[in-house]
Amino acid sequence: MSTNEEHTQAITEAYNAKARETTSAASARKVAEAFGYMKEELDSIPEASNMGLSCGNPVAAASLKEGEHVLDLGSGGGIDVFLAASKVGPTGQVVGLDNSADMVTLARKNAAGRNLRSPHVSFVQASLTQELPITSDSVDCILSNCVINLLPFAGKATVMKEAYRVLRPGGRITLDDVISKTPLPDAILKDLSAHVNCIAGAVTPEEYRKFLEEAGFKGLSTRDIVFVETKKDLNVYYEAGTNCGSAGNNCCGPSETGRDLSTKPNYNVNEYVASYQVYAIKPGVSTTQAPDVLLHSWDAFPKVKSSPPRLTPDEVVSLIRDPTKLSDNYTVIDVRRNDHSGGHVRGSHQCPAQTFYDELPGFFDKFKTSKKVIFYCGSSNGRGPRCAGWYQDYLDAVGAEHKSQAYVLEGGVKEWLTRFTGEEDLVDYD
Ligand SMILES: C[S@@+](CC[C@H](N)C(=O)[O-])C[C@H]1O[C@@H](n2cnc3c(N)ncnc32)[C@H](O)[C@@H]1O
Repeated sequence: MSTNEEHTQAITEAYNAKARETTSAASARKVAEAFGYMKEELDSIPEASNMGLSCGNPVAAASLKEGEHVLDLGSGGGIDVFLAASKVGPTGQVVGLDNSADMVTLARKNAAGRNLRSPHVSFVQASLTQELPITSDSVDCILSNCVINLLPFAGKATVMKEAYRVLRPGGRITLDDVISKTPLPDAILKDLSAHVNCIAGAVTPEEYRKFLEEAGFKGLSTRDIVFVETKKDLNVYYEAGTNCGSAGNNCCGPSETGRDLSTKPNYNVNEYVASYQVYAIKPGVSTTQAPDVLLHSWDAFPKVKSSPPRLTPDEVVSLIRDPTKLSDNYTVIDVRRNDHSGGHVRGSHQCPAQTFYDELPGFFDKFKTSKKVIFYCGSSNGRGPRCAGWYQDYLDAVGAEHKSQAYVLEGGVKEWLTRFTGEEDLVDYD
């Protein structure tokens, strides 16, 4: 494995492939039950969110309370996010981070099927080896399930520092991971399939503790950071066929040792590594209300692919003032949250950006006959172009049975008000 980036990319490609293949629900259930999930828990969540990739059940040990903010590092299909969401209730927030775009797409689909929406439940594509797109001091509990072992050594240190930053004082880490019983032999360390399958990246409890301590974590009350070996059989993935390599011939390509990633190792995995629960806290006490977990609300939605053209204020004025224009020729959309009353483009509809993506089907039904749908926000640099892009992406996906096209009002409402305040046919106040 040459560099940290190549390592992360190889792991991500393997899990992208895993997310795209169909996992046998029976096999995934067998693995999940072996690692402590109860039948009732598995019955309560979207079936596709359990991919048989876990090595424990961190939610069961996290004592989550109503209203808490939770972050799941490496959320996969969302199994622990969904379980956590039911514990923290509608006033809580649960965010799943994963570097695999296909995992995030799958998890979002699972969430949409249960009508679970951001900010209550969000899935964000982000690498744990970099600064997390999460607000400092915003999280009560960090979960992770069979993920930290997959990060390169330096990435493990980075994610623990980031975990510390985003936790509130008094916040806790409750995670499950694969940890090595002994320094691993070179043959395993050089085997990509052993990395992808959560073996070769495992570090010893001492090394793990060092990452946590160096980030600032302490143990619960007067005790040390706690490591509990669960004594579970790690061969269960291969028996059930849910190990990442089980995608078979084209999951991740041949490993550096030339062995196909789907092959069961020719050694007893339990001799080298074990599943552990890890508990640690960020010292301190929090007395203030936790801020939103997501640094950017739009991270919970797909990235925009299109780039809708801009219309100058003069072009929009000519649309508004042209008596020959029918009302379905254009529609103006204000995507600001709550500052509509300070003055807005006359006749504009208010559709706040933070709920816009989830409401796209209804939006399309309402405005699909409008040839030009023109979006703006304060300066039309962020929310306006983003919502226009989501609408255009939606139009492109729907196909040709509409005449609508997305545009952005250049300069946003700021420029509009600067130029046209006092002109009653152009500016309106609520
Ligand atoms: C073994 S799976 C576990 C998934 C999930 N926690 C579960 O229990 O089903 C590991 C997950 O970690 C993600 N992952 C691996 N490396 C990552 C990284 N550098 N940043 C973010 N996610 C990563 C993978 O994409 C995959 O979804």
